[in-house]
Amino acid sequence: MIIDYKEVNDLNRYKIMSDTVVPRPIAWIVTEDDGVINAAPFSYFVPLSSNPAVVIVSIGEKEKGVPKDSLHNILKHKKATICFVNKENTEQVKLCANNLDKEDSEVQKYEIEVERPLNDFPPMISSTQTALFCEFYQKVDIPGKTTPIILEVKKQYIEDGRLDERFHVHVENVGRSGAFFKAMVDL
Ligand SMILES: Cc1cc2nc3c(=O)[nH]c(=O)nc-3n(C[C@H](O)[C@H](O)[C@H](O)COP(=O)(O)O)c2cc1C
Repeated sequence: MIIDYKEVNDLNRYKIMSDTVVPRPIAWIVTEDDGVINAAPFSYFVPLSSNPAVVIVSIGEKEKGVPKDSLHNILKHKKATICFVNKENTEQVKLCANNLDKEDSEVQKYEIEVERPLNDFPPMISSTQTALFCEFYQKVDIPGKTTPIILEVKKQYIEDGRLDERFHVHVENVGRSGAFFKAMVDL
């Protein structure tokens, strides 16, 4: 069958696309505003280039005309720390998808341990095996309710023992396939 995208409503188009473009990495994005640490997962997320080292993430609205807290904070402070998800913290990342008031911190509410290895970036989730410390690079203008944001990776945390002598990183990141979380396996 051929599906004509203009004949499919937004929700079904989202389902078709996100079940098809798989697996997607999950950016567990930590940002800050007014002393509140915000953490939320995003899977419309991919690397774009290694020079410049940039990734793109598409963030929707919290409600009509109001950006999600992550987007608000990135545009205001120009910083984000992207943590990757593994089997140990999958339940925590799911909780962080709940819609909280802007004044409420997911890491506080769900008692998620964070640490701050770099003073000039938001903290990272302690249980992550690797994290990207990013600065706002560019907003991409497309019509609709989603705002794609390009972030430049300035520094990366890699847990001890996971970077080999040939500069390959060995992590067990979990991705998203449709609505499901999937671990990656070697074939
Ligand atoms: C695995 C996963 C991936 C998600 N990916 C996205 C995404 O790519 N874009 C988006 O706008 N929301 C996505 N969400 C929903 C957000 O995490 C959710 O709206 C969250 O409450 C946003 O929080 P914030 O307002 O603190 O930024 C995803 C949720 C989950 C569980």
